[in-house]
Amino acid sequence: MSAPETYPVPPGFAARAHVDAAAYERLYRESIDDPDAFWRGQAAFIDWLRPFTRVSDTRFDPDDLRIQWFADGALNASVNCVDRHLPAKAAQPAILWEGDRVGESRTVSWGELADQVNRLANVLKGLGVAKGDVVTIYLPVIPEVFVAMMACVRIGAVHSVVFSGFSSESLENRIADAGAKVLITADEGLRGGRAVPLKRNADRAVAGQPSIRHVVVVRRTGAEVPFTPGRDRWYDEAVAAADPWCEPVEVGAEDPLFILYTSGSTGKPKGLVHTTGGYLVHAGTSWRIIFDWHEGDVFWCTADVGWVTAHTYKIYGPLLNGATSVLFEGVPTWPDSSRWWSIIERHRVNLFYTAPTALRALMREGEGPVARHDLSSLRVLGSVGEPINPEAWRWYHSVIGGGRCPIVDTYWQTETGAVLLVPIPGAIPNKPGKAAKPYFGIRPAILDAQGRVLEGPGDGNMCFAGSWPGQARTILHDHERFVRTYFAPYPGYFFTGDGVGRDEDGYYRISGRVDDVINVSGHRLGTVELESAISSHPAVAESAVVGYPHEVKGHGVFAYVTLKAGHDESEALHREIVAWVRERIGPIATPDVIQWAPALPKNRAGKILRRILSKVAANDFENFGDTSTVAEPGVVDDIVHRRQRDL
Ligand code: PRX
Repeated sequence: MSAPETYPVPPGFAARAHVDAAAYERLYRESIDDPDAFWRGQAAFIDWLRPFTRVSDTRFDPDDLRIQWFADGALNASVNCVDRHLPAKAAQPAILWEGDRVGESRTVSWGELADQVNRLANVLKGLGVAKGDVVTIYLPVIPEVFVAMMACVRIGAVHSVVFSGFSSESLENRIADAGAKVLITADEGLRGGRAVPLKRNADRAVAGQPSIRHVVVVRRTGAEVPFTPGRDRWYDEAVAAADPWCEPVEVGAEDPLFILYTSGSTGKPKGLVHTTGGYLVHAGTSWRIIFDWHEGDVFWCTADVGWVTAHTYKIYGPLLNGATSVLFEGVPTWPDSSRWWSIIERHRVNLFYTAPTALRALMREGEGPVARHDLSSLRVLGSVGEPINPEAWRWYHSVIGGGRCPIVDTYWQTETGAVLLVPIPGAIPNKPGKAAKPYFGIRPAILDAQGRVLEGPGDGNMCFAGSWPGQARTILHDHERFVRTYFAPYPGYFFTGDGVGRDEDGYYRISGRVDDVINVSGHRLGTVELESAISSHPAVAESAVVGYPHEVKGHGVFAYVTLKAGHDESEALHREIVAWVRERIGPIATPDVIQWAPALPKNRAGKILRRILSKVAANDFENFGDTSTVAEPGVVDDIVHRRQRDL
């Protein structure tokens, strides 16, 4: 085997970095030896309205789980994200927005942001929103998302941002679960030149939801949309009429800041609850360190606002630090595949954060679209959401980064709130595909199926010992599920649901999900959620969904579908089922392959044998392992035969 590739910290980088190799070693050791002392120091980054006396009270015991950080402290998130950068930065840009249409752009200064936040906070108050109430946000990637989130937290309300690519049904489920009082949406979204009917989806979603009292509508495209007088308000009119000052509400460190839904291994998405103090400390300090941000740098994270990546490292991280960020509404391939590179050139972006799936798609376009642009401003490149394959890593490093930028492969989850593994750029040499080393205060552990802790190199389940301030505290309305999913599998540890390997140098490499979750283009989809959507189609008797390797998406959605008697395996029905799933969940859940299956392989207890289905989907027709448990062996032959025929 050839020696693993290692890319040293670029010359000169460490000298001005916040953290170099020696600092990493020292701070990491200190953070593990005395976590409370370490996090107490980090917490000084936040302006507290009431100082905390106790740093942590935490226990990963499934029978008595406790996760509390800075519990008796009080603060306000919007004061930390906005007010404290004033008046010094009032005229400086907070957000450099690029619309979907080329040439449509807006700059929002810190002063304007503060003004809008205060006004919208007053609008929400006027609509009856109070501390602890939930506001759902269903918006395109426009500056009003920042305003809406900050307006909520200014009055102690809890935001629940729902990805604008989700269907009205997905939105409705999330509104219902959270019992949201107000929904903030737009007339339409715009992506890749196509309008997304957000208000229409929103109207359908709230029709049967009595908890929603009002809908605030941002005019994005100016399209004619239905408007329900009494219930609906135009954002621009309401904000213009509102008072420009709103007193920030004092919020306890352990009061909720936001809810964010993600897919799990059951049909129902889980609403993870993040609290205020610990999350802000972890988000704000880690963002500055992992991107090595310095005053004057321009940052750009391409994630959609509906995901945790955007919450922590596009919105809270930069805002807490008073950093200027680019916000782009569109897609990387429209009007052509040089769009991102032209934005980097135009805004002289220094720190860039994206997902491997996008890199793989852009890589296919060759170097031409990149070569036309000057990317010399770039200094740090980030990757998130899924394992980055070494080929994409090298392309990112050499073609985008010109060979001079370290790549921070950040490993974390909606549940973890902020980063857990990362090669801090001035400190840790890169190895392509490896999220490398633990962040400060983080204690990774690899456990085998029997719960034994692995020492040294090897593979197993990715777990973490001991708490960190940014982690989610519970699943809304289902604390038992929270404990069962993350803390019961390996008592004493947080279990991520991922597989991991560790090499001789102590570098970690995440291999992907080991549960019933598929990571499609860096987005989590639960197989059970997909199956429920497919099986609710009137022609479908049963379905089984597995992930399979996909060149661009990382994993694709492969659905085996058994039809009810009297329905034919037709192209038309195939299209209908695809449309059905898109309508129920959203376009991100589009099945890539549907294979008709007269029957599914099951064991004698009736459990579907996914292991076999995954292998067939991956065109691996051998190594099925022990098939003696299959109740009807002919079923497997039939599935293999059909797959081979379709290839
Ligand atoms: O499987 C891991 C993968 O994404 C999952 C978390 O998804 P989500 O909660 O949507 O958050 C994504 C953004 C933080 C993880 O369980 N994942 C995330 N980052 C990486 C990763 N896999 C490998 N390398 C990463 N850097």
